[in-house]
Amino acid sequence: MKTKLTRVLLIPLLMTGISGSAFSDDDEREHGFFNRMWGGGKSADVAMVDNAKYQQECGSCHFAYQPGLLPARSWTKMMSGLDQHFGENAELPAQDVAQLGAYLEANAADRSDYKRSRKIISSLEASDAPLRITEVPYIIRKHRELSPRMLAENPQVVSLSRCQACHTRAETGSYSESEIKIPGFGRWDD
Ligand code: HEC
Ligand code: HEC
Repeated sequence: MKTKLTRVLLIPLLMTGISGSAFSDDDEREHGFFNRMWGGGKSADVAMVDNAKYQQECGSCHFAYQPGLLPARSWTKMMSGLDQHFGENAELPAQDVAQLGAYLEANAADRSDYKRSRKIISSLEASDAPLRITEVPYIIRKHRELSPRMLAENPQVVSLSRCQACHTRAETGSYSESEIKIPGFGRWDD
């Protein structure tokens, strides 16, 4: 009687363990009820922008990307070439460059313990310093199911760089799947 009960309890336990490790590369488990209950990781995916000057200066042409979306080495490189910023001149006074650069570096993905920041870092080689978040392997992988009709051909989105077009709470640092709405397509159901 005792052994039978042990076996009944043990099999599902083992199976959970196996499926858990098989998908360890993915994040689906992280949204699980238990994970939330037991406080596994912070509720936001990356730390929210908490610098008014950054919000103002780096959020005027596009979404103010959270510092935790790129490693410090990427930000350093970007801040040293603002006069040629993706074909635009985004130059700032030297003092602002220093101040914003320090903010970005101090809160960069490799200085953060938020879960998406950690995933971003582990998908990069130590020598990689991408200037685009949309060139980070982890970010590319997360978006590979999007069709051209949802993205490039979608007049309300056009580019993956427009995070907030689909992630309705991107400004809060939350990229949770349950908050995704693709314009013209509705909620994302995986
Ligand atoms: C004059 C307008 C302008 C300003 C100001 C500006 N940017 Fe940009 N930024 C751009 C353009 C244009 C792109 C390319 C967008 C595209 O290809 O869709 C870009 C792209 C980026 C990207 C890459 C996004 C991706 O595709 O992954 C990052 C990161 C970025 N900017 C950070 C910053 C930071 C940090 C600042 C403040 C120091 C800043 N930007 C200020 C115009 C600007
Ligand atoms: C066209 C809509 C769209 C745009 C634009 C977009 N995303 Fe996403 N994103 C998605 C979808 C859909 C998923 C969920 C994919 C899946 O099923 O795992 C996703 C997943 C993610 C995830 C993983 C979340 C999770 O719960 O696993 C992160 C992090 C993320 N996106 C960040 C970004 C960032 C940063 C940007 C901008 C540089 C961006 N996304 C732009 C649609 C978009």
